[in-house]
Amino acid sequence: MCGIVGYLGKNESKNILLDGLSELEYRGYDSAGIAVLQDKNFSIYKAVGKLQNLKDKTKDFTSEGFSVGIGHTRWATHGKPTELNAHPHLGENSYVVHNGIIENYQELKKELQDAGVAFLSQTDTEVIVHLFEHNLKTASSAFDAFEKTISTLEGAYATLLVTKGEEETIFFAKQGSPMILGTGKNGDKYFGSSDAPLIGFASEAIYLSDGDYGVVNNEGIKLYNDKKEKSLSFSKLSENRLSAQKDGFRFFMEKEIYEQSDVMSDTLMGRVQDEGINFDEIDPSLFEGINEIKLCACGTSYHSALTASYLFERYAKVRTSVEVASEFRYKEPLLLKDTLFIVISQSGETADTLETLKMAKKAGLKTLTICNVDNSSMVRLSNASILTRAGIEKGVASTKAFATQVAVLWMLSLYTAKLRNSISQEEITKQLHTLREIPKVLKVDDEQHERIKRLSKRYLHGHGFFFIGRDVFFPLALEGALKLKEISYLHAEGYPSGEMKHGPIALADPELFTIALMPTELLYEKTKSNVEELSARDSTICAISSKKFDKSDDDIFITPSDHYMLEFFEMMVALQILSLEISVRLGNDVDMPRNLAKSVTVE
Ligand code: G6P
Repeated sequence: MCGIVGYLGKNESKNILLDGLSELEYRGYDSAGIAVLQDKNFSIYKAVGKLQNLKDKTKDFTSEGFSVGIGHTRWATHGKPTELNAHPHLGENSYVVHNGIIENYQELKKELQDAGVAFLSQTDTEVIVHLFEHNLKTASSAFDAFEKTISTLEGAYATLLVTKGEEETIFFAKQGSPMILGTGKNGDKYFGSSDAPLIGFASEAIYLSDGDYGVVNNEGIKLYNDKKEKSLSFSKLSENRLSAQKDGFRFFMEKEIYEQSDVMSDTLMGRVQDEGINFDEIDPSLFEGINEIKLCACGTSYHSALTASYLFERYAKVRTSVEVASEFRYKEPLLLKDTLFIVISQSGETADTLETLKMAKKAGLKTLTICNVDNSSMVRLSNASILTRAGIEKGVASTKAFATQVAVLWMLSLYTAKLRNSISQEEITKQLHTLREIPKVLKVDDEQHERIKRLSKRYLHGHGFFFIGRDVFFPLALEGALKLKEISYLHAEGYPSGEMKHGPIALADPELFTIALMPTELLYEKTKSNVEELSARDSTICAISSKKFDKSDDDIFITPSDHYMLEFFEMMVALQILSLEISVRLGNDVDMPRNLAKSVTVE
């Protein structure tokens, strides 16, 4: 989804803006641009496609000395990904960048056009800059014009505006979409859609809240909300940028797959204790009076929610339902106060999920966020939150975020089970031991990687893939299929093994690839019969199991284990590597697959 950066100071702004945009590439984009205002002159560059195109265009441009600059990566919503539609957008003397959707842009555009304003792009964003300049004609100052503009906008926006006449100033506003404002040691100011572009430059930052707007210049920062000035509350920023680099791996996704073992240790740290699960960040009273758990999420996070629904019912014996956030928003759901509403999100910014959280809060439900990004919108909004501690995830196809979400949810199911006295202490102790084993099974074995890489050459075509599994291996099958779709662009579906004969089996032939998840510790025989049915119809079978299945065409062997959740995590790694290697062979951009965005901040 679109990314925003901004800079005010004496350093080379081009480099800071382009560096910042690279840090936001993970959000997904199809064009990019920057505008730098220096000595009363604007320099503006835009390019479609990868950031490298913008870097090539700006290679002879420098901006030594004081300047203000804004930059943007655009993920097209209104209007095609063209240079004209790329941000920054120009009025007569001002430029604007924006992330979000201005819902009343058509009315505003019409009013402005009736007043004689000409529009160049098809975007909703362009109304912001024209409205500002229109207001400027009658306002007492540029700030008043900006404040008036913001109060007219409906929808979601994080926006930065620079204008001639106030050459040493950046105006900013945030509603719905994320924006962070940082300050460096020498008073330089930085803006970013996440803290990633600020790390290494700014030492502290303000995580702006909805409704915040204001102005930065050499004198400082003025922050307002609802026409009242607000005091500034800074958080310290980490100075370590290294964690966001590729560490010698070909792709961020690959690095993130390999990192899973280490980050999992962080996820478990202090939480898996001798007697039970401990979450410092939540109070047991969160579960008082709760008779149902509702989990809500999108994409990969939805798959962890589905996995969790099996664990909550199995261990905590609490009624659990799972909802796709975009559906839940408009189904007029029944929200009862004895339900604990849990949202799961890597970014904490996904618009649909965020909206369901607001709905649940409004209905008076207790809310909990499972998230990877501290201070994200969801974390700030919910009653309680548990961080997954996966570190920055850059590959658009989520890997370590999924693994850590599942682990947190598994721990939470045991935590709840203990509160509800629904399983024995002996069983809890056994599972605590198993949880400690996860980092071990997540360690990627080089030989296994090599084997999957060799095998991947046989899976580059065909008319489709079915990933199948039972119980928690069904959501894992969904996730395996999603990974493959996302980065290989091959058609893949996840199915419960037992459902295949109710329709999908009609597709079975040698060009239909079945990736069969066959854990030995959970419903092996049942799954085996389903896979046999497919093999009897000549589907090509790749079995993932610790046991040799005599009807398979290919096998990916995992380590024998005594708990199905350990099989789950090891199979997850195998599926991630299989998708990665298929995508590499097909020559795709693994980290930034076509049409996808890392953080979807529009509905
Ligand atoms: C996008 C990403 C997916 C992600 C989904 C939900 O579609 O490409 O990888 O699973 O959003 O994101 P969230 O940050 O809420 O987990």
